Amino acid sequence: MANSTPPLIQVSNLTKHFGGLPALDRVSLTAARGQVTALIGPNGAGKTTLINCLTGVLSPDRGEILFDGRDLSGLPPHEITRLGIARTFQNLRLFPRLSVLDNVLTGLTIQAGSSMLEALLRTPGLRHRERRLRLTALEALDTFGLVDKADLPAGTLPYGDKKRVEMARAFVSNPVLTLLDEPVAGLNSEETGQIAALIRQMRLYGKSMILVEHDMDLVMSVSDHVVVLDGGKRIAAGPPEEVRRNPLVLEAYLGRMSVTA
Ligand SMILES: Nc1ncnc2c1ncn2[C@@H]1O[C@H](COP(=O)(O)OP(=O)(O)OP(=O)(O)O)[C@@H](O)[C@H]1O
Ligand SMILES: [Mg+2]
Repeated sequence: MANSTPPLIQVSNLTKHFGGLPALDRVSLTAARGQVTALIGPNGAGKTTLINCLTGVLSPDRGEILFDGRDLSGLPPHEITRLGIARTFQNLRLFPRLSVLDNVLTGLTIQAGSSMLEALLRTPGLRHRERRLRLTALEALDTFGLVDKADLPAGTLPYGDKKRVEMARAFVSNPVLTLLDEPVAGLNSEETGQIAALIRQMRLYGKSMILVEHDMDLVMSVSDHVVVLDGGKRIAAGPPEEVRRNPLVLEAYLGRMSVTA
């Protein structure tokens, strides 16, 4: 490689079994800084398992994950978050009774670093910090088109808005890398277009992302690099145009479709 700085993410030979069955089987991939790396593959390919290994929710059986050259193995999720990796969830994980603003604020609490004593005494320093955090959260809501819904309970929002609240919460802490697990699943084409525009906007801001998606139009239109998993194995990787023509990839998708059709 001509570039001497390490890739933002370097996964080597990652293996994870569930009850003897491999969900990930010696998977290697890289994700570059400032780019959108798509992770695609049929249902059960291991995409979410890989995201869960990257965030420390799951410990791989074997293999290595380097983030900016640093080995993540053994680090608990909160430390990985602190290093600057944020995520959204395939199945929404919002607090339905909390306001949209408070949901987004939860994406900032790790950075807030206030002690329990400060919180109890509500010191001026803490109040100042709270104001700053609210402002940051409101800015994120503005970017994601949600500022007029800041005070509504998140549970009352339409599904498309909830997906954007998840994204706002992931990006509010200004992460180095954001992992998006199926951000347009269940959305109509107009809502999908909004998310596509937001992903492009975040990329323009220099954000690095790993995008897990089944929507091929979205993947092809926003990704710089595509990695394909099937049955826990990496079967292809490369630029979107190359991957979409790869016979192994076509076979993985068509084979699966003929089973479910
Ligand atoms: N916690 C778990 N316990 C047991 N098996 C699991 C667990 N999580 C995932 N698996 C299995 O691992 C395999 C990969 O699952 P994973 O959720 O990573 O797939 P995916 O590529 O994200 O699929 P989808 O597109 O449906 O979200 C599947 O066979 C799944 O049943
Ligand atoms: Mg998944």
